[in-house]
Formats: sequence, C-alpha cells, structure tokens
Amino acid sequence: MGLLAVIGGSGFAQLAGLGEPETLTPDTPYGPISAAILCGRLAGQRILFLPRHGEGHGLPPHRINYRANIWALRAQGADRILGLAAVGGITAGFGPRSFAVPDQIVDYTYGREHTYSDGPGAPLLHVDFTQPYCPKLRLSLLHACARAGVVVADRATYGATQGPRFESAAEIVRLQRDGCDLVGMTGMPEAALARELDISYASLAFVVNWAAGKGDGAITAEEIDEHLGHCAGRVEQVLLALASDA
Ligand code: HPA
Repeated sequence: MGLLAVIGGSGFAQLAGLGEPETLTPDTPYGPISAAILCGRLAGQRILFLPRHGEGHGLPPHRINYRANIWALRAQGADRILGLAAVGGITAGFGPRSFAVPDQIVDYTYGREHTYSDGPGAPLLHVDFTQPYCPKLRLSLLHACARAGVVVADRATYGATQGPRFESAAEIVRLQRDGCDLVGMTGMPEAALARELDISYASLAFVVNWAAGKGDGAITAEEIDEHLGHCAGRVEQVLLALASDA
C-alpha cells in the first residue's frame, strides 16, 4: 500500500507527533504547493502532511493551488488523502464541536483551477463523481473514529463556498434547501482533483461554528478558535488511529 497523506486546514498548520519529519518541496507542473510537505511517522507508519493554507495560514481558500498540492502528494507516493475540514454547521445534529465524515458535496466555488483536463495536451477526463469521497477510506476513517472514541456522523453533505467571507443567512438557507449539512471553503476542488488522479480521498469535518443565521448573532473568530481548540485533540486521536490501521 502507498502512503497516507493528510491535508491540514484551519487550526492544523502543523501536525503534532510526526517526530523529526523530512521536509519536501517538490516542483510541480502547476506551480508552487501551499508549503513544504512534511514526511514523518505517526503510529510507526510513514505519513505525509501538507498545510493547505500555508505555514502561516496566509493563503485564502481561492488562492490555494489545489492542483499543485494534490499532484505533489501523489508524486511523493500518496495513494490516500485525508482532508481535514473545519466547517460551519447548518442542520440539526451538526452543532459546534461535532464531527462528521461527509459522503456528498455540493460545489458553489468559482474561478478556481479545478481540473487537470486543461491546457495543451491534457487528456479530457470526465471522471465519475457520483460518490465524491472514497467509500473505502470513509469506512477506515469511521473505524478510526470508533477506535479513538470519537462520536462522528457517518454521513453529511458538504457545501463548498468561495469565501473568504462567511455566507449570508439567505445563502445558508439556500444551501440547506440544496441538502447541505455542513459548509466550508476548501473541500472543492480538492476532492475532485484527487478523483481525477485516482487517489482515494475522504474528509474529516469538525464543526467550529453554527453557519450564518443558525446561531445567535454574528460568527466570530473567538468562537471559532474556542471550538477549534476543543476539536484539535480528537482530530489528532483519529489520525493516530487511522495511521495505525495502515
Ligand atoms: N462557512 C464557510 N466556511 C467555514 C465556516 C462557515 O460558516 N466555518 C468554518 N469554515
């Protein structure tokens, strides 16, 4: 089996417990990756880690070079990618500090480099995306959550918005009408690009705020940081359990 790669999002610019990781900065045909890829060991297994917003969380969601990131991880041997996702909760049961392994996506992003089927000589691929996340990796992730003692929703629909601003209340009503349970800004095109390169991809989502109009008043950085802090330890436990299953 190839390597497991973890793409860290908000709150996960680093990954604890990697020991003394090797630092990799591969060139890609698509330009620079978000930050150096760390190659270390978790639960004794080799693992890759890449913070999608860069080391200092400087890259906004629409500026992340998703194509370079996914391409580089595969070039380093990754055959499975887990995307960490701090998200807003829309529907009942997905309140702050809850966890989910989403099974569906609705894409509301625009203007992002979202496919490898682009540019001279690139083959035109119409990849199947009926199940946007890899069912096998989702199952492994759900088992890892169980072993880590983390309560997790075994399905959810993730709505990917453009950001970097949060949504209006009416936009969230629309997402809910569309069937979304969660909202985040980076799930696409990451998942689709992984599918185009035939890499298993799944996401571990943890809710850091009620989506716009679903909580009391405005969404604040303080509440998000507080909820993130409460989720971080559980995310690390799940990653340990997932790595040890490899
Ligand atoms: N909306 C979009 N992305 C997010 C949110 C949100 O409410 N919370 C965390 N990421």
